[in-house]
Amino acid sequence: MDRTPVIVAIGRSAVCRSRKGSFATTHPIEICNQVLRGVLDQVPQLDHNDIDDLVLGCAAHTNQCSQNMARLVVQRAELPDTVCGQTINRFCSSGLQAIATSMNEIIAGQADVVIAGGVESMSYCYGAYPDEYRDEWLNNHDVDVKGEGSAYMGMGITAENVAKKYGINREDMEKLALRSHTRAAIARKDGKLAPSIIPVKVVNPAGEEEIVKDDQGILAELDGTMKTSLEKMSGMKTCFIDEEDGGLVTAATSSQTSDAAAFAIVMTMDKANELGIKPIAKMLGYAVEGVDPKYMGLGPIEAVPVALKRAGMTMDQIDEVELNEAFASQAIACMQDLGLEAGLDDDLDPAKDKDKDIVVNPYGNAMALGHPMGATGIFLTCKMLDWLRENDKKYGIVTMCIGGGMGAAGVFERLI
Ligand SMILES: CC(C)(COP(=O)(O)OP(=O)(O)OC[C@H]1O[C@@H](n2cnc3c(N)ncnc32)[C@H](O)[C@@H]1OP(=O)(O)O)[C@@H](O)C(=O)NCCC(=O)NCCS
Repeated sequence: MDRTPVIVAIGRSAVCRSRKGSFATTHPIEICNQVLRGVLDQVPQLDHNDIDDLVLGCAAHTNQCSQNMARLVVQRAELPDTVCGQTINRFCSSGLQAIATSMNEIIAGQADVVIAGGVESMSYCYGAYPDEYRDEWLNNHDVDVKGEGSAYMGMGITAENVAKKYGINREDMEKLALRSHTRAAIARKDGKLAPSIIPVKVVNPAGEEEIVKDDQGILAELDGTMKTSLEKMSGMKTCFIDEEDGGLVTAATSSQTSDAAAFAIVMTMDKANELGIKPIAKMLGYAVEGVDPKYMGLGPIEAVPVALKRAGMTMDQIDEVELNEAFASQAIACMQDLGLEAGLDDDLDPAKDKDKDIVVNPYGNAMALGHPMGATGIFLTCKMLDWLRENDKKYGIVTMCIGGGMGAAGVFERLI
C-alpha cells in the first residue's frame, strides 16, 4: 500500500489586476468553476464520485467570497453532492496551505482524493478593516506610526519597517521590480507562463466577451516591449509613508492587488496507480513559522529552513525558488538571509540562469504578475513546476510571508 499524497493535476487562471483587469466584474465562484473544470479535465480517468473533499484557500473571505465558498464551488462545478468542501484562511499562504491540508487529510487516512484550491477577488473583497470590528486591546497594543496595533498593521507599513531594519534603499527595490517585470515580460512573450493557464471566458468590465489567457499585471506589451523603467519608477509617489517622513515603498515596489483562482488534485499514490495516472509532483516538506507582525515580510527566513529540514534536504539541493514578492523590501531581505541571489545587477537575460545553482523567480513574481492572496500558493506552485519541467530540474520551493507575522514554505519534487 502506498498512501503517499501526490499532485496529479494542477492549473490556474491568468492573474488579472483587481478593479482594472478582465476579472473585475466576474463573480469569483465563476472563475473557480471554469478553472476547476479545466483541472479535472486533465484526469478524465477520475470518477468524480471518488473525490472526498475540496479545500479552498481564500484570504479576504468576505462579500462574494464569504459563506463556505468551497462547498459553493463544488455545487457550481456540478460535482456530486457527496463531494464536501471546507474554506480555509492563512492569508497569503492559503493556497499553499490548501495543498498541505489536502495532503494531511490523505496522510491521516481521512480521504483518498482531495481537491486543493485557492481564490482571491481583490476587486470585490479587499479593503480596509473597519474600526468597529477591531478588538480594543489589539488595536492599542504595540502601535505603529499610524497609531494601529501591530496585529492590525497595514502591510505597507511592515514593508517600510523591513526596509529600515535591513537598510534597503529605494533604488534596489526598484531594480528588483524592474527585474520582476522584465523576467515576466520575457516569460509571457516566450509562452513560458502558458502551460498552467486555463483560459477563462468572461464578460469583461467593458461589457465585451473575452477569453482571458494571459497574465495582465506585467508592464509590457505582449511582444515584450517594456512599459516601465527605473526612471519611471523613481518618480513615483510613496504609498504608505510620505517621502518627507522617510517613506520608500511605492506601487511599483509593492505586490499588485489581483483576481485569480487555481486548483490542484491530490490523491494517494495507490489511487494514481489504479487509474494509470502519472503523478506530477510531491510535497516533501512544509512549514509555517511565526515572526514579529511588525516585520511580517521576514516570515520566509524562518519557514524555509524548517521546511527543508522536514524534507531532509539542504538549500544546495534546490533548483528553483518561488519567493513571493509581497514587497520588494521583504523579498530582498529574505533572499539576503536565505543566501539567495536577488540578481539586482544582472543583465536580466534568462539564459544566464543556466550558470546559477539556484534560480529565484525566473519568470518574475508578484510586483509584475500580481499577488491574488488566497490563490498565490497554487499559482506559484504552477510556475515552479513549469520552470522545473522546462529546465529538466527536480526540486523547488514555494514560500511567502503572511499578514499578521508568519511565513510558509513548501518543498516540492517534480515527478514528470
Ligand atoms: C501599493 C498599492 C496601495 C497601490 O495601489 P494602486 O494605486 O491601486 O496600484 P496600481 O497597481 O493600480 O498602481 C498605480 C499606478 O502606478 C502604476 N505603476 C505601478 N507599478 C509601476 C511601475 N513599476 N512602473 C510604472 N508605473 C507603475 C500603475 O500602472 C498604475 O497606473 P494606472 O492607474 O495608470 O494603471 C496596492 O497595490 C497594494 O496595497 N499592494 C499591496 C497589497 C498587499 O498588501 N498584499 C498583501 C501582501 S502581504
